[in-house]
Amino acid sequence: MAVTRPPALVALRFDGAALYALDQTALPFNEVELELASAADVAAAIRRLSIRGAPLIGVAAAYGVAAELTRDPSQESLEAACELLRDARPTAVNLSYAVDRVRQAVLRADPAEVAAAAVAEAQAIDAEEAAASDAMARHGAELLASARRVMTHCNTGALAAPGRGTALAVIAELAQRGSLQGVVATESRPLLQGARLTVYELTKLGIDHELVVDGAAAGLIAGGEIDAVIVGCDRVAANGDVANKVGTYGLALAAQATGIPFVVAGPTTTIDATCASAAEIQIEQRDADEVRCAAGAALTVAGTRCRNPAFDLTPAGLISALVTERGIAAPVDGASIRALLAR
Ligand code: MRU
Repeated sequence: MAVTRPPALVALRFDGAALYALDQTALPFNEVELELASAADVAAAIRRLSIRGAPLIGVAAAYGVAAELTRDPSQESLEAACELLRDARPTAVNLSYAVDRVRQAVLRADPAEVAAAAVAEAQAIDAEEAAASDAMARHGAELLASARRVMTHCNTGALAAPGRGTALAVIAELAQRGSLQGVVATESRPLLQGARLTVYELTKLGIDHELVVDGAAAGLIAGGEIDAVIVGCDRVAANGDVANKVGTYGLALAAQATGIPFVVAGPTTTIDATCASAAEIQIEQRDADEVRCAAGAALTVAGTRCRNPAFDLTPAGLISALVTERGIAAPVDGASIRALLAR
C-alpha cells in the first residue's frame, strides 16, 4: 500500500524565546497550540501530557531550559530550570539526557552567550533526534520487510518524537515502501494515546488501520492476524530490558507465545547504560482519576481505589530486536547493546 507523505506534523516549534507545542490532551478533536515561555510552563505541559513521548519530552525540556535562560541567564536560573525539567516525569531517560546536555553546553559558554548556547544545543538535539527517526525508519523497514499486518501500542509517531517518530516511523516507512497491508492500534488506556493520537497520525498519513481495545490485542495475535508487533520505549537498560507504556509486557508475552516478532524502536538517547536492568527503572505512578474517569466522565464507583502505573517492564528475552538509528540489536542483551553504543 503506497502512501503519499503529507506535510510534517509540527508537535513543537521554538521561536527563539518561547516554545509552542501542539496540546496533545486536546487531540484528535482540537488542534490547539500552547505558548510556553518558561521552564515551569514546559515542565507543567510535560507533566499533564500536553507534550509527551520519550524523545519529544527530552527535546521540549531542552527548549524549556533555553526559554528560561532568555528570560534570566543567571546560574541560579539554569540550575533551577534543569532540576524542574529533569524531574517532570521519572521514567523516560531522554529528559535527563537532554537537560544535562544543554546544561553542559551552557556551562562551557561565554557568560554573555548562555541563552544562545542553550538554544543552539536544544536545536542540535532536536535535529539529531529527527535524523535518528529517519534512520530508525530505514533499519526497521528492512527488518520487517515481510510483515503485512503490524500491531502497535500507545503513540510513537511525530507527536512523540522529532521527525516521524520511532515505531510509527518504521510503520510509515513500510507503508511508503508498499509492503504494509494495515495497522492494528491499541487504545492504550487510561489516557488513550492509541485511540486519540496514533489514529490521528495514521489518518493523516493515509495508512489503513483498525483500533482495538487493549484487551483484544492478545487474542488477535494468537489468532494469526498480526505478523509483528512494534512499539517504542521510554528507557532501555544496559541489559536490554525495556520500560514502555503500560500494556507493552502483555503484548510481548502474546507475541512470544504465538511466535511472531516483538520489536522495540527507539533512539540510542533512550538507552540508559547506567541502569543495569529493569529492576533499576522507576515506573511513573499517575493519578487514580485517570483510571476512574475517561474524557471527564466517571467510569466506576466514586472513590474506587485504583492503581495507575504509566509504564511496565519487558525483559530483554521477550524482545526480538531493538531498532535504533545506529542499527539493530538482535538478540537483545548486554553484549548487543554495548556493540550498538560502540558504533
Ligand atoms: O506516557 P506517554 O504518552 O509519554 O507514553 C509514551 C510511550 O510510552 C511511548 O511508547 C514512548 O514514549 C515511545 S517513544 C516515542
